[in-house]
Amino acid sequence: MNPLTIWHPFTNSALDPAPIEIERAEGVWLYARDGRRVIDAVSSWWVNVHGHANARIAAAIAEQARKMEHVILAGFTHEPAERLAAGLRQWVAPQLQHLFFSDDGSTAVEVALKLAVQHFSNTGQATKCEIVALEHGYHGDTAGAMSVSDDSPFTDPFRTMRYPVHRVHSAYCYRCPVGLKRETCHIECLQKFESLLKERGDRIAAVIVEPLLQAAGGMIVHPVEFLQNLRALSTQHDVLLIADEVLTGFGRTGKMFACDLAGVAPDLMCLSKGITGGFLPMGATLCSDRVQAAFHSENRMHTFYHGHSYTGNALACAAANASLQIFADEPVFERIAGIARIHAERLGQLRNFAVVGDARQMGTIAAIELRTEDAGYLSAMRPKLYRFFLERGVLLRPLGNVVYVLPPYVISPDELHRVWDVIVEAVETLF
Ligand SMILES: Cc1ncc(COP(=O)(O)O)c(C=O)c1O
Repeated sequence: MNPLTIWHPFTNSALDPAPIEIERAEGVWLYARDGRRVIDAVSSWWVNVHGHANARIAAAIAEQARKMEHVILAGFTHEPAERLAAGLRQWVAPQLQHLFFSDDGSTAVEVALKLAVQHFSNTGQATKCEIVALEHGYHGDTAGAMSVSDDSPFTDPFRTMRYPVHRVHSAYCYRCPVGLKRETCHIECLQKFESLLKERGDRIAAVIVEPLLQAAGGMIVHPVEFLQNLRALSTQHDVLLIADEVLTGFGRTGKMFACDLAGVAPDLMCLSKGITGGFLPMGATLCSDRVQAAFHSENRMHTFYHGHSYTGNALACAAANASLQIFADEPVFERIAGIARIHAERLGQLRNFAVVGDARQMGTIAAIELRTEDAGYLSAMRPKLYRFFLERGVLLRPLGNVVYVLPPYVISPDELHRVWDVIVEAVETLF
């Protein structure tokens, strides 16, 4: 009997090359069955932080598996989950006092949106239930997360499944939505949000943002003032701020969380991806006392009736605890600073190419936006670039005409320069 064929994500079996079978991985390297080795310059969809097959995380998972793999989290708790809650407490804004576990980035977002809406419902403001989200935002592939994500080829077939949200400008300075220049602007792109709040702030429960860096939308870097002013306006109109730190969390932007760079404390924060060091799936939604207080009630109907089977999985918690321990006792932020320095240097070189329209960076994330005939995710250049990089032993997945590098923090300077050399070669030969 033939085995089931695996349906690969974001892959068209008629158009895309057959998958490469990976036998093992170590550090930044993926080793294929056919003998090839590839640098994972996208951290396997942005999850890996301390390198593949990290021995400390692997040992922590093995040790936990021998003790207890998983137990229902409704009515029960366990040491790995409690330890993780205590560990995260050290890193996040003091306002964030509560943690709700889920499975991945999308579910962390679903939880945040539902908590925001039910918070107001529980406090007798059921009509304060609308959501605001940004142009170019991406928050995941489940129905609620797709609704707050901007329109894209990913969401197009699902128009009827997405609930309506208010869409306001992002601070996409390279393609400024209000036609200004960053050097002289005063974050006028936020005026649309401000007008919306003035008009119907009493109906709006929350605004969700990817703080400072919109990832899948094209690695768009925002000025810190954008997030700071957005926070101030939200507070003014009693609108909850949801920071989706699913990608930006755990050191990616140079600080533990992007919100730290702006000195902003959100009301809710979504975490996933790097939380377990990239070993196991886990989502977490953090919230303030104020949000949670509305659920601490004599009324059973005020309960948050939401939970996933694997919520608070002990193995995932063990991985996350080991990852936080690595942050605590290895020079992780020095590694991050080293990556940022090389990114800055190589972007400086790439800016000299006419085809490079914009070069942007935040911490370990660097991107170039190419001047191609067709912009956007479906740019014809995307598959060509992907193949070009892979043939040279580098895994990069351009977001249409945006090529970005987002490596595990253990990448060596030589390995990182190799990635940039291949990008320079592509820019020189394909355009
Ligand atoms: C900012 C952001 N939020 C949410 C998600 C969804 O996470 P997941 O793919 O784990 O569901 C992603 C995934 O890329 C993301 O970048």
